[in-house]
Parts: sequence; structure tokens; C-alpha cells
Amino acid sequence: MTDKITVAALQAMKPAGKKIVMVTCYDYTCARIADKAGVDAVLVGDSLGMTMLGYENTLAVTMEDMITYTRSVVRGARRPFIIADMPFMSYQTSVEEAVRNAGRLIKETGAHCVKLEGGASVADRIRAITECGIPVCAHIGMTPQSVNAFGGFKVQGKGEANAERIVRDALSVQEAGAFMVVLECIPPKLAALITARLAILTVGIGAGPSCDGQVLVMQDLLGMNDGFAPKIIRRFADAGSVMEKGFADYAAAVRSGAFPTVENSFPKSDCSDDFLRTLAEKIAD
Ligand code: KIV
Repeated sequence: MTDKITVAALQAMKPAGKKIVMVTCYDYTCARIADKAGVDAVLVGDSLGMTMLGYENTLAVTMEDMITYTRSVVRGARRPFIIADMPFMSYQTSVEEAVRNAGRLIKETGAHCVKLEGGASVADRIRAITECGIPVCAHIGMTPQSVNAFGGFKVQGKGEANAERIVRDALSVQEAGAFMVVLECIPPKLAALITARLAILTVGIGAGPSCDGQVLVMQDLLGMNDGFAPKIIRRFADAGSVMEKGFADYAAAVRSGAFPTVENSFPKSDCSDDFLRTLAEKIAD
């Protein structure tokens, strides 16, 4: 699996019935591992506000944060398609600001695409960014940057009016030029309807099995979040426990003197034992 994944390669997966595998990553080391595992796309999500920076939500994430973490991922993930999230207030204020910041993310990081949250309300931003030749992934349903407006991270699209609004959002982002849309926390039947109706790609998270692809936050799927396991995720590994045991074993070995040993050092020295003895005498008080 050596061919770089492109927009065209992802688009070809929908008619072929092949699911798109997307995962969030925020750093070089994990991006390399995800690449080796054969994921199709890596999202440098603004979820890094929580997973990497320890914030309660994504609102404080800055363009500089996104640029730093995305650069790191781009250096690590050679084959996957890389999507950089546009942080809160980097595109909401105006079309010009949205284009400028999308351009910065692409120019300064080497990512292939930007993602922004919202449907009909950001269609003009999506159109302007795609007109610059920057692929856009939209994000509708439960959009975490609107956490305060939603009153929490809550399922969206419940009830007929909300379901219709989300379908209209999906159609708007497609019409504006997005080539992919993340459907987050919406009822599975609604996600199935949208996926069947849209020509563009749908990638689900908490949206059931019918989307064209799936995205999960790396720490969630690898089991790195103590006790945090909402039902929309599945743990495919228990990396948290493996890492904790590794740290604890290391600590015990250092404390007991079992590590490091001479084998863990560079025993050859240019200095003779005589010289080191004289040196020790010289510095003794
Ligand atoms: O920021 C993020 O990680 C996301 C995904 C959850 C879709 O937007």
C-alpha cells in the first residue's frame, strides 16, 4: 500500500462500496503508526484541544495550535489523506478570514484539505475556499464548536424539523463544493438517507453503519481515556493500560537500580581509569 491517497482515490471508494477509514491523529509518532496500519485518512481534529491540551472543549484551540500539530502529522503520515480542522472563530467572522485561514493551514502545514463545521450557514465559506482549489470537508449534526449553543454534546437531528434541517445542511455543503461531510451524532436512519442522497462522501461518527466511512478519535479507539467510553465509540485496544504499565515498570526499575545497567550505556571512554581517578581527586574537597 504505497500510493498516496488523494481526493480522487477517496471518491472512487463510494461507488466501489469500499468504506473510508479515518482516524484523528495529532503527532508525528502516532501518524506514522496510523499510516503503517493502513488508514485512508487522518484528521488533525480540533479535538486536540481536549486530547492533547486538556481543555474541556475545542473552543480555545488556535490557528497556531492547529498549524503546529498538523505539521507534525504531515511529517509522520506519508500515505493517508490529511485533513486539518479549522479552529473556532477562524472562519465564522467572514468569507475573507475563512479563505485566509484555510490557505494558511494548507500552505504552512502541507495538509491536503480543511474541515469546517456548519451547514447552510457556512456554505459561502465552503464555496470561496473550494474556489481557491482547497478541498473542503464539511461537518454537520453535532458540531462541537457549537457546544454552548447546543447546551452540551448532544445528539442532533431528532424530530422532523431538525432532521429536515440537517438534510438541508447536507445538500447545502454539497452544493457549495465540499467533497466530503462528517455526520456527527445523528440518528442512523437520517445518516443513511443523507448518504444515499448525496454524491459526496459521508463520514460518520455516532451516525450508524451506513455512511461511506467512519472516523474515531485516536485516544477513544485505542483506549487511552480513563473511563471515558460513550456508546458511539468502540475500544479496539487497551493502549492506556499498556502505557501505564510501561511507565510503572520503568519507574520501578529506576528506583530499584535495575535500569540503567552498563549494557544501557556507552562503556568505551577515551579516558583511562588513572585519569578518571586523578580527576576525582582533583574535584574532591
Ligand atoms: O475534531 C475532531 O476530532 C472531529 C471529529 C470528531 C470528527 O471533528
